[in-house]
Amino acid sequence: MEVPAIEGGKPLREHFKEYYPSFTEYEKQLVLSVLESGRLASGLGKYVREFEESFARFIGVKHALALINGTAALHTAVASLGIGSGDEVITTPFSFVATATSILHNNAIPVFGDIELDTLNLDPETIPDKITNRTKAILVVHLAGHPAEMDEIMKIAREHDLAVIEDCAQAIGSEYKGRKVGSIGNIGGFSFYQSKNMTTGEGGMITTSDELLYRRAKLFIEHGSEERYYHTILGWNYRMTELQAALGLGQLKRIDELNHAREEIAKIYTDELESLDGYLLLLPKPKPHVKHTWHIYQVLLKLENLRVNRDRIVEAVRKENLLALVAYPRTIYENPLFQNLNAYGNGCPWSCPFYGAKITYKAGLSPKAEFAARSVVTLPTLAGMTAEDAIDTAKALKKVLIYYKK
Ligand SMILES: Cc1ncc(COP(=O)(O)O)c(C=O)c1O
Repeated sequence: MEVPAIEGGKPLREHFKEYYPSFTEYEKQLVLSVLESGRLASGLGKYVREFEESFARFIGVKHALALINGTAALHTAVASLGIGSGDEVITTPFSFVATATSILHNNAIPVFGDIELDTLNLDPETIPDKITNRTKAILVVHLAGHPAEMDEIMKIAREHDLAVIEDCAQAIGSEYKGRKVGSIGNIGGFSFYQSKNMTTGEGGMITTSDELLYRRAKLFIEHGSEERYYHTILGWNYRMTELQAALGLGQLKRIDELNHAREEIAKIYTDELESLDGYLLLLPKPKPHVKHTWHIYQVLLKLENLRVNRDRIVEAVRKENLLALVAYPRTIYENPLFQNLNAYGNGCPWSCPFYGAKITYKAGLSPKAEFAARSVVTLPTLAGMTAEDAIDTAKALKKVLIYYKK
């Protein structure tokens, strides 16, 4: 048996390699042309508009609205549905925190369901019990690029007259039964952060076919103003720059290629780790009716068959000079923000008189999500990775798991 580097053995790689996306000449030319034009701010050039139109076509919706990042996209999506103080939104506890803070940013209350362990997505069966007369929407996440069970979620929403917001930050180009995510619910939010399947450094997009939601979202990201220096609602400046949009336009033209590269890396992980599946870990198994875009590759460790905890496994892989991550080490509600029930001071929005109900986020609230947070290991599928990088990453994990098996 090979001794892992963390236990004094020889590391699988001599040096740690960082992964960065590379950009085509065409993409560089697009960005350069913005600099040369001098028209950098949103709306001064043509790229924001072109990026929005192309993205709307790609997703299959009437409207897309470019903004500064995915967090702003979700904040705006929730706001444009008119959700605010006194309202509840049901969401998943196993996601990046912005999924739930977008609800708090609107003074509304996040209510957490639980997840399915095979996809780590919100389990529709856990939604109905959480519905109250305050519930206004379901905010669903397509985690890691695997679409959530949208048919069932849309059915629950219809029956209870709820809106559906799709957090598509990790799922650009993912499909559920042939439809792109971001076109199924009332409104969708995307992220183009550096690590995302296509990137503008930071960036985000809203998608919707609802004219009213689009108009409200546009107002919200433009200081609440349609007419210069005349402000009708509380708004923000969330507009995307022409520089970001030019790069986004270039990236979008090759999104299928970028997604395909991630899929190839996922295949390598599956091939390399299959022999341990069900014994030392559980590999992801996409449902047959989805197109997965593999933003990350999530495995769950079978901790009962291992001598050490998850954090030790991840540290050991890193000591092999290969990258493993944890997305996410705790459920959203286990963060102090939610345990302290205080976002805006004075306990708001939880203590807001318009809310009037009491909610706590106690341990055991979403047992499957808590279990996933303890056992998940995230393998990267980042742009810039080669097949060899993926093979070595899987080999490092395999080496460590076999050494620490009971
Ligand atoms: C599921 C999810 N939601 C929201 C966000 C927020 O996006 P951004 O980082 O662009 O603000 C991210 C990205 O980090 C994410 O992964």
